[in-house]
Amino acid sequence: MERSVVTGKLCNSQLWSVVLISFVLCFVLLCFDYSALNGEDTGVTVLENNNFANSVSTQDSKSHDFSSLFNDSIFLLPNNSISIVGFVGNKTDKPMIKSSTKEGEEVKSDVDSCLGRYIFVHDVPSQFNEDLLRNCELLTPGSDKNMCPYLVNLGFGPQIENPQDVLLNNSWFLTNQFLLEVIFHNRIKNYKCLTNDSSLASAIFVPFYAGLDLGRYLWGFNISVRDSSAFGFVKWLTEKPEWKRMGGRDHFLVAGRISWDFRRQTDNESDWGSKLRFLPESRNMSMLSVEASAWNNDFAIPYPTCFHPSKDSEVFQWQDRMRWQTRPYLFSFAGAPRPEYQNSIRGNLIDQCLASKNRCRLLDCNYGATNCNNPVNVMKVFRRSVFCLQPAGDSYTRRSVFDSILAGCIPVFFHPGTAYAQYKWHLPKNYTKYSVYIPVKDVSDLTMNINETLLQIPESRVLALREEVIKLIPSIVYANPRSTLGTLEDAFDLAVKGILERIEKVRSMIRVGKDPSIGFADGDDYKYTFSPYGSGI
Ligand SMILES: *[C@@H]1O[C@H](CO)[C@@H](O)[C@H](O)[C@H]1NC(C)=O
Ligand SMILES: *[C@@H]1O[C@H](CO)[C@@H](O)[C@H](O)[C@H]1NC(C)=O
Ligand SMILES: *[C@@H]1O[C@H](CO)[C@@H](O)[C@H](O)[C@H]1NC(C)=O
Ligand SMILES: *[C@@H]1O[C@H](CO)[C@@H](O)[C@H](O)[C@H]1NC(C)=O
Ligand SMILES: *[C@@H]1O[C@H](CO)[C@@H](O)[C@H](O)[C@H]1NC(C)=O
Ligand SMILES: *[C@@H]1O[C@H](CO)[C@@H](O)[C@H](O)[C@H]1NC(C)=O
Ligand SMILES: *[C@@H]1O[C@H](CO)[C@@H](O)[C@H](O)[C@H]1NC(C)=O
Ligand SMILES: *[C@@H]1O[C@H](CO)[C@@H](O)[C@H](O)[C@H]1NC(C)=O
Ligand SMILES: *[C@@H]1O[C@H](CO)[C@@H](O)[C@H](O)[C@H]1NC(C)=O
Ligand SMILES: *[C@@H]1O[C@H](CO)[C@@H](O)[C@H](O)[C@H]1NC(C)=O
Repeated sequence: MERSVVTGKLCNSQLWSVVLISFVLCFVLLCFDYSALNGEDTGVTVLENNNFANSVSTQDSKSHDFSSLFNDSIFLLPNNSISIVGFVGNKTDKPMIKSSTKEGEEVKSDVDSCLGRYIFVHDVPSQFNEDLLRNCELLTPGSDKNMCPYLVNLGFGPQIENPQDVLLNNSWFLTNQFLLEVIFHNRIKNYKCLTNDSSLASAIFVPFYAGLDLGRYLWGFNISVRDSSAFGFVKWLTEKPEWKRMGGRDHFLVAGRISWDFRRQTDNESDWGSKLRFLPESRNMSMLSVEASAWNNDFAIPYPTCFHPSKDSEVFQWQDRMRWQTRPYLFSFAGAPRPEYQNSIRGNLIDQCLASKNRCRLLDCNYGATNCNNPVNVMKVFRRSVFCLQPAGDSYTRRSVFDSILAGCIPVFFHPGTAYAQYKWHLPKNYTKYSVYIPVKDVSDLTMNINETLLQIPESRVLALREEVIKLIPSIVYANPRSTLGTLEDAFDLAVKGILERIEKVRSMIRVGKDPSIGFADGDDYKYTFSPYGSGI
């Protein structure tokens, strides 16, 4: 999450950064064993006794037949492999395919194109969603104002009034990055394969605005206040008949905050966040959010950017603009040069940018400087840059990653947790196709000149990278639900596809009598290690 870019001068509290820095430091200390780092240097508290690896939970897998635990209702669901394949193939394809009956005889039929894709949306008590919006003046997402102005246009925020020919006229909004849960909820209301009959549903969506809820209490509230909605919510949810069917394993929720905010591992008052995702009920569910944690039931989906096209043609028009854009800057960086970061790679990158003179453009998002909330300012710089540096922010990920993709600016990553380990449903597995990777564990690793490193990349590779980045644009935008895109699949479509496949895998484990908890909520800190990712320069 990139505080400086997103909230810029709106930020009210140093505490936010201190807490998150300490959190990230803890994580760095505990997971990566960069023993050189030391809490005293930065004056933040570090949890020394907490062994991350041990606390990552693994569930016992007993070897009895789990299919008996779940009654027949899940077997009555169509065997999804057919329709999922149709879905993966081509959004516009009508699956006119063979389906087989129980007896194995093949019949040709016009299969219901929603088979295997039906989603049931829970009618969650308004205290867990609508009331939060109604009382939007209490939602303070790291800004000195409240969230109310951002709620208009189905959570996209106000339309950009003066796009200055930098943006397309009608499809850009002042979108707040914390509103993913509202945007997703509004979008799913127009999903083609909704059902009111939960027995038909392949997945159950629970529109609990967990991030907005918790955002009110992250700073200065005791843990019982921070956890209270989580307890109330799972209590309500597990009493619903839908829960019984698969013990919640077909349920998912979406959060606009990083998953770590919901992963408080102890009841020490000084620990960060809520423990929503460690409640036994919640472990059985999947959560999609802007940044996943090390646990297998958390999935990352893109941050909402400010571009919300209503038609395929708007996407094509934007892609064409980015293709033909002149790019006088070799690289750019949008962020805040904060003095307290002198020891991190950010300070170094900013120094390098300044030293590279007119090869690099620094967009200073510091308090009182450019308003990096306004996409006009960000796009003005990114669209004129070949590469965009994306060092980890206060957490691993940043919305800026998606701004750079939108601008056709090739992202340069320094840590696998910023994108490669995260957005697996949305970004190509082969990361060398769309990005440059300079693995840097800490500032002492950063010995090369960024400008010279980037200059060495041959023009042909730059062109191929840029084309791949531009091709990714539709996959990372959240289209305007007022009219759905034609042939293109957007970030929402890919997220739905990803979660349906995930749940179908769990369901097929149950079908063959395996324990569905195997691997479901296990921790996998390997996700965030550097090892599988070689240098990708
Ligand atoms: C809670 O955390 C603080 C700071 O890390 C530590 O000093 C304290 O001993 C912890 N308390 C308990 C009960 O573990
Ligand atoms: C499943 O439902 C059937 C009736 O539909 C019932 O006879 C059976 O006992 C149920 N099994 C379990 C494990 O609940
Ligand atoms: C999807 O199907 C439509 C019509 O069948 C076709 O025009 C289009 O090229 C296909 N797209 C892909 C990506 O295969
Ligand atoms: C966008 O709107 C501005 C003024 O609102 C207008 O001058 C301009 O021609 C419009 N651009 C396009 C491409 O429609
Ligand atoms: C579900 O029920 C509600 C209220 O009865 C209705 O408005 C809605 O159209 C139904 N949705 C579907 C997909 O049938
Ligand atoms: C937590 O804070 C709330 C109000 O902020 C208070 O009512 C409650 O007693 C506190 N709980 C504990 C355990 O301190
Ligand atoms: C979670 O799922 C397991 C089966 O995988 C089930 O036994 C358990 O009861 C579920 N937990 C809750 C709280 O429903
Ligand atoms: C490249 O950056 C280094 C500092 O990192 C600077 O000393 C050097 O002058 C820059 N070279 C060019 C050609 O800009
Ligand atoms: C990944 O992409 C690069 C660049 O397109 C290509 O050269 C390489 O062979 C690909 N690697 C794999 C494993 O597909
Ligand atoms: C679904 O049906 C296909 C074809 O009948 C079969 O090969 C496959 O194993 C089934 N999948 C599951 C999960 O039952």
